[in-house]
Amino acid sequence: MGSMGDESKESFNGVFVPNDTRGKVITCKAAVAWGPKEPLVIQDVQVDPPQSMEVRIKIVFTSICHTDLSAWLGENENQRAFPRILGHEAAGIVESVGEGVIDMKEGDHVVPLFNGECGDCVYCKSEKTNLCGKLRVNPMKRVMSIDGKSRFSSMDGKPIYHFLSTSTFSEYTVVDSGCVVKIDPNASLKKMSLLSCGVSTGVGAAWNTANVQPGSTVAVFGLGAVGLAAAAGARAKGATRIIGVDINPDKFVKGKIMGMTEFINPKDLKRCVNEEIKELTEGGVDYSFECTGNLEVLREAFLSTHDGWGLTVILGIHGSPRLMPVHPMELFDGRRITGSVFGDFKGKSQLPQFAEECLNGVINLDEFITHELPFSKINEAFQLLIEGKSLRCVLQL
Ligand code: APR
Ligand code: ZN
Ligand code: ZN
Repeated sequence: MGSMGDESKESFNGVFVPNDTRGKVITCKAAVAWGPKEPLVIQDVQVDPPQSMEVRIKIVFTSICHTDLSAWLGENENQRAFPRILGHEAAGIVESVGEGVIDMKEGDHVVPLFNGECGDCVYCKSEKTNLCGKLRVNPMKRVMSIDGKSRFSSMDGKPIYHFLSTSTFSEYTVVDSGCVVKIDPNASLKKMSLLSCGVSTGVGAAWNTANVQPGSTVAVFGLGAVGLAAAAGARAKGATRIIGVDINPDKFVKGKIMGMTEFINPKDLKRCVNEEIKELTEGGVDYSFECTGNLEVLREAFLSTHDGWGLTVILGIHGSPRLMPVHPMELFDGRRITGSVFGDFKGKSQLPQFAEECLNGVINLDEFITHELPFSKINEAFQLLIEGKSLRCVLQL
């Protein structure tokens, strides 16, 4: 791949990146959320140049994850901030870098990270966590750390807030250099965009958080992209039985492709799902994954595991303020429960390796892309997710 050179434009994977914008404000299109449940407005916005240790990215593909949907719906009141540019699953090309950024340069292919890795803090230096002390996932954060300002503004100069440190529903975005990772320039940016959240979260939960062992049994609750990725991850590690649980039976078709062996629709049962699973598996599964964000489902997932050693991993985002429906004494039965952020992958140091495994076919990324639309049809893409019709609808900018 060539450098940006002196020509005014150069092609990367057929995408043109202007290189005369360095240090200047860029005016481009973004999908702005003006209020809860209001259709996103595609409009001109101004994107400031990256400051020290920041990177400005030309987004090439983005898709919509359930967390974007929750933010748009305004589900968690304390996290509301409008106007805002949502979006956190994407892939793109570095347009320019701010002072001090040495691990990336103009033209690099990158994936934004909502759960950043500064590389220097006590958390980043520990092998026990992927939560950085400075850049960990933070839905409350709406401005850049260095100066407490937004890099986005409307044409009349009013600030537009950032979301999940990434804001990918924009032709250009600015992120902290710890919230973006360089990837193989030969990899398809469309496929790589999936690694920004859903697929990495699900697969990583099976590989890193649960460390699924060959020959084990698994139950996955909620067969959206996250649940299906957890199933694909478990399958890749040699799980022999993977039970998919969803109230939408249309999801079972994809579940089968992803390696699920059995399916349960709770609506078809006269008893609790956990009782059914315990009978099917002689006492319960080794691992269960909660991928719905529903507390009743979480309890079923917890009770579906085998006593003595069962592990439940929470992936769903649960609205506040309700607490976990588990009595402390129930943990004395030897069932464990834990959460997983970004599949316990350290984004900057471990995502490139995971991307390579996906490209080698360990995980079939294509199966997660059910729809493709131009960026201008982003509201249609939201609707597809709301109606349960899409796993990932990839939008091309
Ligand atoms: N029982 C079983 N399945 C359910 C239930 C329920 N009570 N409620 C919802 N589901 C299923 C839906 O039918 C859907 O197939 O859960 C699935 C959720 O999938 P998506 O909406 O596509 O969400 P996804 O992007 O996979 O994210 C799953 O993880 O990141 C979080 O916020 C996200 O909580 C969400 C979860
Ligand atoms: Zn750190
Ligand atoms: Zn997400």
